[in-house]
Amino acid sequence: MPRSCGRVLALTALLAVLSTTVQAEQLPLISGWRVHRGEVAGAEAVAFDDRDWRSVTVPHDASIDDHADGTPPFDAQAIAGQDSGYLPGGQAWYRRHLVLDAARAARVIRLNFEAVYMDADVWLNGQPLARHRYGYTAFSLDLTGKVRPGDNVIAVRVNHPDPSSRWYAGTGLIRPVSLDILDPVHLDPEGTAITTPVATAERGQVAVRSVVVNRSARAATVELLSQVVAADGAVVAQARQVRPVAANGRADLDQSLMVDRPALWSPDAPNLYTLVQQVRVGGALKDERRTHFGIRTITVDARQGLRINGQKVVLKGGNIHHDNYMVGAAGLPDADARKVALMKAAGYNAIRSAHNPASQATLDAADALGMLVIDEAFDAWDKPKRAQDYARFFAQDWAADLDSLVVSGRNHPSVLFWSIGNEIPEQGTPEGAETGRRLAERVRRLDPTRPVIQAVSIDGPDNARQFAVLDVAGYNYRAHLFGPDHVQFPDRVMLTTESTPKDAFQYWRPVETMPWVIGDFVWTAVDYIGEAGIGWMGYSQDWQKLAPYPWTLAYCGEIDATGRKRPAAYYREVLWKTGNDPISAFVRQPPGTEDLPDRHYFPIQQPHLDWSLDDVHPSWTWPGQEGKPLEVVVYSEFPEVELFLNDRSLGRHPVGVDSEYKTTFQVPYAPGRLVAVGYRDGQPAGRWELRTAGAPVLARLSLDRPTVRANGVDLAYLTVELADADGTPVYARDADRLVTVRVAGAGALAGMGNGDPRDAGSFQAGERRTFHGRVVAAVRAGTQAGPITVDVALPGLPPQRVTLNAVAP
Ligand code: GAL
Repeated sequence: MPRSCGRVLALTALLAVLSTTVQAEQLPLISGWRVHRGEVAGAEAVAFDDRDWRSVTVPHDASIDDHADGTPPFDAQAIAGQDSGYLPGGQAWYRRHLVLDAARAARVIRLNFEAVYMDADVWLNGQPLARHRYGYTAFSLDLTGKVRPGDNVIAVRVNHPDPSSRWYAGTGLIRPVSLDILDPVHLDPEGTAITTPVATAERGQVAVRSVVVNRSARAATVELLSQVVAADGAVVAQARQVRPVAANGRADLDQSLMVDRPALWSPDAPNLYTLVQQVRVGGALKDERRTHFGIRTITVDARQGLRINGQKVVLKGGNIHHDNYMVGAAGLPDADARKVALMKAAGYNAIRSAHNPASQATLDAADALGMLVIDEAFDAWDKPKRAQDYARFFAQDWAADLDSLVVSGRNHPSVLFWSIGNEIPEQGTPEGAETGRRLAERVRRLDPTRPVIQAVSIDGPDNARQFAVLDVAGYNYRAHLFGPDHVQFPDRVMLTTESTPKDAFQYWRPVETMPWVIGDFVWTAVDYIGEAGIGWMGYSQDWQKLAPYPWTLAYCGEIDATGRKRPAAYYREVLWKTGNDPISAFVRQPPGTEDLPDRHYFPIQQPHLDWSLDDVHPSWTWPGQEGKPLEVVVYSEFPEVELFLNDRSLGRHPVGVDSEYKTTFQVPYAPGRLVAVGYRDGQPAGRWELRTAGAPVLARLSLDRPTVRANGVDLAYLTVELADADGTPVYARDADRLVTVRVAGAGALAGMGNGDPRDAGSFQAGERRTFHGRVVAAVRAGTQAGPITVDVALPGLPPQRVTLNAVAP
């Protein structure tokens, strides 16, 4: 099973190693794959001719690729329709050659898939190896004794029948694939479990459970050395153990290491350590494994809420799906990490991985940046939500898939809770409670340190039946229950696992006022493909008919699909008092000028279920509205707000909890400068400005990094934003322009997107219209070092070029 930090040797080192070397090796299988969309007979055979298949690098999503003729993959007739954002699933085949010298072919070999969506059959040299059905869990296959010296062929058939999901899932080898080449005596890659039962300023206890495997025909006396290495490289604790391990046997080893004055891990100070483990036999090094971890404790109770290292933490949370928009569902590590970083920068401190296990890249980024994660197993158990979803496999596979979730995630300090499910159709029934109990018990056996939760969307005695089997109660859209349920169940720890963005205040207030309510996770933090249009249409029983093609995005993300904060994200920062943007102002779209179709309001059964965001915009450019009153909404942490138009005061308003930290002004429109000033103790303490923009004369380019590693997966993101002659951002839709991006040299365009929920164009063609003045392009490193040039052209504007470097990894 791939892990965040497995074998130390990278590809380059591997090539340099002599075949007699005994060290363990991990080989990422990134390049060398070929893919074919659709069914094909006999493709598992070694001799199958795949030369006309497309060469791709992995992670890869076959559903997001343009068709061979260059047309975009979206299809108005797609079976999964609005669920998948009009993208089809289907079958895909992958093949890759694997060349091993005789020495390596004779070793212990594991082939690791971090996730294949979905229902994968794997062959080696034409022989069936295994089948793995769930599209989000990691699995490892034992190739020991099956590979041969020289050429081998791995073939994977992926079957993604529609409709398999309520959101866009992608198709194919969507997360990394790697190979472990091990000595017969080695650490079980899935065996190391690190817990930190003591985490104080004085002392950190690091308890390590390891499994040493001996796959040789001779008993071995094995020495295990475990060292805790601090960020500066110092070894701060170590333990050594010597144990006999029987031929073809395994041994569990427990070690306890004490770290003096540890640098504790918390969301505010995400200090990491590395556990370096070495296995020796007769003094010879047989295996080395590195695992990042953090020293921290988690406790929850209804009186003090959530505490990390004894300190109270409230969860400023957001849900995310796994897709990465312009690169589809391909879990490219930088794309996954970027979502985490965007959330951290916007003030969130917690992620709910909806509704499936998070990728290792997501968890690695969360560890490093200080984000807490609810890592979730399933969206369905026995009863399906969609005809072809995981419910088909649950009865047979749930235990293995749950184990995979926990084993893959348990050493990540960011993982806070395990969630066993989301809005499970059988929730609250006796049968649902019994299944929940079995799942929760299995999770606790593998990891007794983290609470088990479930996201539940029912009231009354039924929710009580389900919550009775859980450690923490996840409520979807049920802030109204926090008071009454507490009276009935005073020990219950509650949190909002899903809430609507527009009701941010109503969901946050209980977190501030009720100690047993520990946080709120909005639906969603980052926009995603699928559930097309739910952020515009509002809710009705008919909503699935309301966002036809070319709607592709949900459009309920507080951060848009390209990474731009929408007004709701600014409001949330005020509610959370992050200090990033303590005051901000936005303008309501004047009636009759909407650029999206009229909203449909229907008689709704549950009025609180509306994922739309307020139709307000960061713009003071409203030609045609001169003299007409526009509504300006100001979000403010400051208790008093004054608005100025072209230096003329429009009055001061008090702002605070009673006004839900916002106020509105009616302002007769005149072009110029609109400034909101926040006052604390009567003194100006913050300001926010919107300026009327002229015609776009400039495309501002910003690259998120100057170098990428030439490893075939690193990404650099280039943002292109329109500005007028004064540098004011151009936001108006009628000023949007077509942007052409050409990437040459040691990289390629991975995808380009604008965040427009109704743009079903190609992500790969290198041409995209700006949406509210912006597009973002993802540039993927190749496997050769060298310069990468990105040429950006817009009609009527001077062409521009940016260069970045792909450096040897
Ligand atoms: C919830 C569900 C989410 C998402 C959301 C918005 O009920 O758990 O997965 O579908 O509604 O549609």
